[in-house]
Amino acid sequence: MPFGVIYIAIMPTVDDPTEKTLAELGVNDAQGVAEKFAEVRTRFDRQVAFDADEIRSLMLHEAWLGSDSDPVTSLRNFWVGRKAGVLTLITENWLKKSPPSLKGVVGKQFNELKTHIETKLEEQRKRIEEKTEAAALNREQVDLSLPGVIRPVGSHHLIRQVFQEIEDIFFSIGFSIVEGPEIETPYYNFEALNIPEFHPVRDDMDTFYLELPKGAKTPLLLRTHTSPMQIRTMEKQKPPVRVIVPGKVYRRDNPDATHSFAFHQIEGLAVDTDITFCDFTGTIEYFVKQFFGPSVKTRFRPSYFPFTEPSVEFDVSCPFCGGTGTAAAGGTCTKCKGAAWIELFGAGMVDPAVYGFVNYDAKKVSGFAFGIGIDRLAMLKYGIDDIQVFFQNDVRFLRQFP
Ligand code: FA5
Repeated sequence: MPFGVIYIAIMPTVDDPTEKTLAELGVNDAQGVAEKFAEVRTRFDRQVAFDADEIRSLMLHEAWLGSDSDPVTSLRNFWVGRKAGVLTLITENWLKKSPPSLKGVVGKQFNELKTHIETKLEEQRKRIEEKTEAAALNREQVDLSLPGVIRPVGSHHLIRQVFQEIEDIFFSIGFSIVEGPEIETPYYNFEALNIPEFHPVRDDMDTFYLELPKGAKTPLLLRTHTSPMQIRTMEKQKPPVRVIVPGKVYRRDNPDATHSFAFHQIEGLAVDTDITFCDFTGTIEYFVKQFFGPSVKTRFRPSYFPFTEPSVEFDVSCPFCGGTGTAAAGGTCTKCKGAAWIELFGAGMVDPAVYGFVNYDAKKVSGFAFGIGIDRLAMLKYGIDDIQVFFQNDVRFLRQFP
């Protein structure tokens, strides 16, 4: 509807009939009364047909509709507002000031107009509300044909995946998983593992000591292996013990293709009254065949750890050259350097001296322990030739192991 039309149609003018009495308007009979009411009603009917925008345009242009931000309220106030609404004006100027002979007619017309106005205003409110809601719904409609937002989902680091794989294997044969602190005391990291101060083996595990305030009770260091958890577990629990301990360890090793100053191990410990070397080899072989597949061959070599006796190094036949020492393309296998075997980890039967530190009776219990280097194990299984890639967080590497 063109704005000018609205303006002319509903703008109250100085000669707005509701501002005068019926006598001033020259009305003195029932028909005249009916005509005046009809005039007002017609004006109202035009306005009540407006939608919110049309009323708003009117409000912006003409102050008479009031300053309510809601156009529907403005229109309502204009008609039924207590102070100066049209109905109030009619009550004051027409009804109250009409001669007694016309009072009944004016009263009846007034009541009809009032009901009409209130009903129609309510209908208008509902109509506008519904329209606004429908418009909002329409605006907010989800367009299913639009391409979605791709949120990159990360994955577990290969080391975490290998941990998980190993944990599952040991879990399936009755081991539980425990974790321990990365900051240790020399007692747990060395002494209780039968490595007294000044024992030469400590040189192999020279490590990072923490700077502590003067007077600290004990030095602290970053653990060099997960073996301290053997002691902590046995201190807490009586045999039977069957745990594995995944975790991060630290050594002052210079970084190269197979060494990192921070790397990962899984410790294993089984102690009971009747554990033999056969249980030990059977468990280890089971694990290795589950992890690398049934075709790998395994072997034990004598070794030395102060906390196991006898101690062994455990080797698998080189999975890259099939245990031949020769690369598929000919020449020496670069992975096992022609040896046909690759060293996997250290292990052994728990040294009876260790039981003394945890109040186990060495005459009654026996057990085995092992410590697997997870990074090198992952390198072997997935053909990775540089340990450093695990720590560089290059997504081109990480994405290869989703
Ligand atoms: C130990 O750490 C013993 N605690 C293992 C053990 C546990 C023996 C229980 C007996 C009974 P070793 O120092 O060999 O052992 O380390 C174990 C494995 O950690 C190695 O076989 C190797 O795979 C890995 N490893 C050692 N040093 C590094 C390093 N700097 N970077 C990456 N991996 C390493």
